[in-house]
Amino acid sequence: MDFATRIATWQQRHGRHDLPWQNTRDPYRIWLSEIMLQQTQVSTVIPYYQRFLERFPDLHALAAADQEAVMPYWAGLGYYARARNLHRCAQEIARDWGGRFPPDAAAIATLPGIGRSTAAAIAAFAYGERSPIMDGNVKRVFARHFGIAGDPARRETETRLWALADAQLHDGAGHGVDMPAYTQGLMDLGATVCIRGKPLCERCPVNETCIARREGRQAELPTPKARKPSPERSTGMLVLRHEGRILLEQRPATGIWGGLWSLPEFDIAQDARSACQALGATPAQAFELAAFSHTFTHFRLHVRPWYVVLAAPPSKDDRAWRWVDAFQTAQVALPAPVRKLIDGLFAAGLPEDAMAPAA
Ligand code: ADE
Repeated sequence: MDFATRIATWQQRHGRHDLPWQNTRDPYRIWLSEIMLQQTQVSTVIPYYQRFLERFPDLHALAAADQEAVMPYWAGLGYYARARNLHRCAQEIARDWGGRFPPDAAAIATLPGIGRSTAAAIAAFAYGERSPIMDGNVKRVFARHFGIAGDPARRETETRLWALADAQLHDGAGHGVDMPAYTQGLMDLGATVCIRGKPLCERCPVNETCIARREGRQAELPTPKARKPSPERSTGMLVLRHEGRILLEQRPATGIWGGLWSLPEFDIAQDARSACQALGATPAQAFELAAFSHTFTHFRLHVRPWYVVLAAPPSKDDRAWRWVDAFQTAQVALPAPVRKLIDGLFAAGLPEDAMAPAA
């Protein structure tokens, strides 16, 4: 049996079959799952996927919605450009494709935010198209099985891996293979058997032809990235409380957490009280909270949060601000670490306005 057939057969017997985006050929549902799964693990995605589909059950519902209405369904998943692109895609499909999902991987790959591998996965699952995928897990499977050294994120290595992926489906290779099973099989193998640490080679359907295994190079392949230390940034964050409400500020559309509601930030060269005064607010009490860090793809953000009970709210009104009842912040699209900070505050039972001097 050739490579693709061994993987597809293994998937049918030992792979995952009950994920919520399996057992459908609806390209909308498959597309949504592939976008959510691009940078987020399966167990995190599942509840988001289900809530999203309840609110936006088909392409038409998503295209008809405002982007603002979509963001709350993504809040906490991270990489928010995915949600904005998803919405743009839906509108583009409604406008340029008569509301029908594009019919093949090449057309799907022209949509915003959809790369070659994601387009191929959608086309394989929805249409059975013979297009190969090459995501992070699959790169590991191919680098080991075919003995390909070099950082898989580098252009030359990636080109070799794609050529090998193509070769498994061309010139009679993988003839008649069940494409959804093969595609899912590569993902399942990468996620459960050909894992990063110590792979479970005895369970692998292609172990007899695997170069890394034959040469005992599983730990060296794929070649690890030469790591540069990631840059660090620091920011102050204000939990401003007044009359039972908390002040939220909308982040600029570009940059981290673009378009999401978050807490007002200040330069840590300042102190929190003067930051409040700069906003035209009068603090009554200010408490420094436990600092925390959040890791993004390209940098680490150190956050120094302050909880400030205000005697008078900010006088300025030219900012994208909104006061939210402290117990209703759960309804707002907040980034995950900000959500955690606010939820933690309620659990801690900090002072409220009652303690602030009467206005
Ligand atoms: N990661 C990306 N696509 C996936 C899928 N269809 N199933 C599980 N994990 C995935």
